Amino acid sequence: MCGIVGYVGEKRAAPLLLDGLRRLEYRGYDSAGVATLDGDHVQIVRRVGFVQNLAAAIPADMPGHTGIGHTRWATHGGVTEQNAHPHADSTNRIALAHNGIIENHALLRARLEDEGIVFRSETDTEVLAHLVSKFYAGDPVDAVRKALLLVQGTYGIAVIFAAHPGVIVAARNGSPLVVGKGDGETFLASDPHALAAYTRQVVYLEDRDIARIDQQGWTLSRLDGSDVSRVVEVLGEEWADDGRGDYSHHMLKEIREQPESLARCLRGRVVPESGGARLGGLDMDPRDIASIQRVGVLGCGTSFHAGLVGAAAMESLARIPAFAEIASEFRYRNPVIGRDDMFFAVSQSGETADTLGAVREVQVKGGRIFGVVNVVGSSIARACGKGVYVHSGPEIAVASTKAFTSQVAALLVAALSFARTRTLGPHEGKSFGDELLAVPSAVGEWLQSEPQSVMDAVELVTKGRFVFFLGRGVSHAVALEGALKLKEIAYLPCMAYPAAEMKHGPIALIDRNTPVVVIVPDDVMRDKTLSTIAEVKARGARVIVVHSAGDMHAARVADISIPVPRASTLLSPLLTVLPLQLLAYRSGLALGRDIDRPRNLAKSVTVE
Ligand code: M6R
Repeated sequence: MCGIVGYVGEKRAAPLLLDGLRRLEYRGYDSAGVATLDGDHVQIVRRVGFVQNLAAAIPADMPGHTGIGHTRWATHGGVTEQNAHPHADSTNRIALAHNGIIENHALLRARLEDEGIVFRSETDTEVLAHLVSKFYAGDPVDAVRKALLLVQGTYGIAVIFAAHPGVIVAARNGSPLVVGKGDGETFLASDPHALAAYTRQVVYLEDRDIARIDQQGWTLSRLDGSDVSRVVEVLGEEWADDGRGDYSHHMLKEIREQPESLARCLRGRVVPESGGARLGGLDMDPRDIASIQRVGVLGCGTSFHAGLVGAAAMESLARIPAFAEIASEFRYRNPVIGRDDMFFAVSQSGETADTLGAVREVQVKGGRIFGVVNVVGSSIARACGKGVYVHSGPEIAVASTKAFTSQVAALLVAALSFARTRTLGPHEGKSFGDELLAVPSAVGEWLQSEPQSVMDAVELVTKGRFVFFLGRGVSHAVALEGALKLKEIAYLPCMAYPAAEMKHGPIALIDRNTPVVVIVPDDVMRDKTLSTIAEVKARGARVIVVHSAGDMHAARVADISIPVPRASTLLSPLLTVLPLQLLAYRSGLALGRDIDRPRNLAKSVTVE
């Protein structure tokens, strides 16, 4: 969704702002704009549509060595140039970009209109530009502080003042901002992707921080006027690589990166010598682990699906009662949270508003919650305080792929660590750990020799009327993930079901135009799932079966057979999901979809 960039330094700001905005494009947006300082006023260029439209409209010699940029995903007011950010005050001497929602904007707007201010947009943001202007009396930070004290809602803002060339004032409350220190230049962004190519030394603003940013760095204070300093962090190397390389799409690149992203997630965490696992970020001693009564795993979309696998592992491996729940449902159902319960919030972006809301709900009720997050320093990671980074590296395609497998791997490591403390002997622990450590190379081998049958499956599903995805236990989570991918990338109607539920109703939908994708690894549920295959085939369905390599019976009953390397049940999702990711990617490609930026979707869903 919305993104912010800022630059202060010796170079011309506009090209750097455009580059930063391009790096934020993956988040989803519908208009974009930049503002730079030009003598005694601000110069603003905004356009509806992609950053390339904006780039075409920006004069090659756009002046200014200080500037801010924004990608907007419309909330208040339609997708128009007037509503695009940055917004100026009435004197055109102040420009402001904003992420978040100002909840009391109508009241503030009415008051400002009574004072004679003429608004030029329908946005909630414009009130901020006029308020900052109203309070400006020579000190830009003071003006921003006074304006924000009147505001209810969420914000990440960047403001420039014609009277203060070489200064950006930034402030955050609920919408992330990160400042990066270069050599004689300083960068601002709502997302570390936008600045990782320029600097890896960053500081994350906390809620109610205000930063005065100049060429030399930053000075921080709090909304209440007190001073504060924050630790400078170093972005991991993987964050610098957000290009497509030789790949035609980020999604394919990210699918193919899974051997490395999985290995990164597991590195140093599985400990073969003790048969256990180490997750320093959880900071739990064996007594804490022994006292856990229940584990809840919360997330949305793909992260929820990873959570289903994680909860299954907690229960079956560590023998701790566990459940996974969609964060947006959990947060409003007034859940019972016990002192000895433990929660995980799973999120690639770390910015999903529904998941962040669930984190707060657990905390309000005195519960413990740990992040399982990819983006370092993101809001969920910070709100949880403790947790596990999954280290997938930048995931740019809207469809989550490598983050899913890393989330599953991280939750399996947590389950192994808890299991080793509570239930598992060293030999069983070691054998689980060894198998987990072997997964990245099995994934790599399979991806390198992707079976032709994936293309046969593409042919079948793209011609189908409706596609079913079936599985049982953790394979049901994989079915849900496969169906989600096919919906979002290929826009094909489909549905995932626990295989045994078919006979309780959905089987009525089956005919020869409903391809059925069945995930059936060679585990204790295999024979039962094979019976479901027989039932849907008897009603005319053509069946694509994802099964363990060497399972000849599963291969024989399939119309299209896709073998994947064998793995024990809890690890099987790391392998069975691969053909489903490629099925979605290749179907989307065959149907001419916008693979990396599917319609109506944003990478980071920062509104409820
Ligand atoms: O960043 P998060 O993992 O919290 O995002 C959650 C969902 O919005 C996300 O997984 C979404 O479902 C993806 N587009 C799935 O591919």
